[in-house]
Amino acid sequence: MSLPPILQNLRLPVMASPLFIISYPELVIAQCKAGVVGSFPALNAREKDGEPPMLETWLKRITEELDRHNQANPDAPAAPFAVNQIVHKSNARLDRDVELCVKYKVPLWITSLGARTEVYDAAHSCGGFVVHDVINNHFARKAIDKGADGLVAVAAGAGGHAGAQSPLALVSEIREWFDGALLLSGAIGKGDSILAAQAMGADMAYIGSAFIATEEANAVPGYKQMITEAGASDIVYSNLFTGVHGNYLKPSIRNAGMDPDNLETSDPSKMSFKLDESGEREKPKKWKEIWGAGQGIGMVKEVVPTAELVNRLEREYFAARARMDATGPKAANPGYARLSTAEAAAG
Ligand SMILES: Cc1cc2nc3c(=O)[nH]c(=O)nc-3n(C[C@H](O)[C@H](O)[C@H](O)COP(=O)(O)O)c2cc1C
Repeated sequence: MSLPPILQNLRLPVMASPLFIISYPELVIAQCKAGVVGSFPALNAREKDGEPPMLETWLKRITEELDRHNQANPDAPAAPFAVNQIVHKSNARLDRDVELCVKYKVPLWITSLGARTEVYDAAHSCGGFVVHDVINNHFARKAIDKGADGLVAVAAGAGGHAGAQSPLALVSEIREWFDGALLLSGAIGKGDSILAAQAMGADMAYIGSAFIATEEANAVPGYKQMITEAGASDIVYSNLFTGVHGNYLKPSIRNAGMDPDNLETSDPSKMSFKLDESGEREKPKKWKEIWGAGQGIGMVKEVVPTAELVNRLEREYFAARARMDATGPKAANPGYARLSTAEAAAG
């Protein structure tokens, strides 16, 4: 088992991924109580100038609410939570946010956009376990060399800053040399796909877009609705909006007066996580309602409470497992069943 104890024995092998603007404490707490790891980007917690850090308020609330839940439900404890640090030179809050996460002993850390040894050392100083998200094997090796404990393979079709590689290729290349915790991200919207991720060699699924269409998500109703109505062909892969390639909902681009099939290109020098005076990430006004989502949203048909989404994923996951057992080569050919891996290995 390549997972650390904190990620073993979850109700489902799922980490709900951090979503910029969307993952607020309501969603994170609902995800953890439903039995999957909940997470949020530290940058989502913003205070006005001169106010105490909102991140501290959030960490306190999440920790206390999950503790209370665990005391009341010792047989069905909440899953642990994770905080995402955007490790990018334009993130001026990084050091302060890392310090607060150490103070609150955040159990799981997710780093994206940059792998830095100091951040891994800080996480380890409070007993944290860190996964770093990568879009190819090269960045995966770099992150592990710098001290990350595990990896999130962000494959083609993922919401937000997605990779361009097939999950089959990415996971198998990483698994050639890495036997630690490996999560697969990208277009997972159904329990069957969680099982597929494990069959490929990943330990867990990392799911983002499906959680946008939940009651607890901090997204406007039009965004949630669009997720329930759109499918893979409604997603476009573009670097225009942040300088790095990501997947976006075409109808939201059309609503902003642009043609999603003829977008200009940009480059990484345009990327910025600076916040403007209203606490928003700096970007042109007309891009405000351009919404990110991955290709897996065809499986999301309605806005539901988070607990209900997790129930659906669980039902589908176990149904897929039963289907594989009932229809696999073992079932079709009882002779083959005797040739289990262990027997084959023993000769
Ligand atoms: C709207 C949106 C915002 C995101 N914000 C972040 C973020 O702040 N930090 C991060 O590491 N990943 C972010 N992601 C990427 C997700 O964490 C994850 O890799 C992705 O959602 C998984 O693919 P899926 O959406 O197809 O499930 C974002 C994704 C979306 C759709």
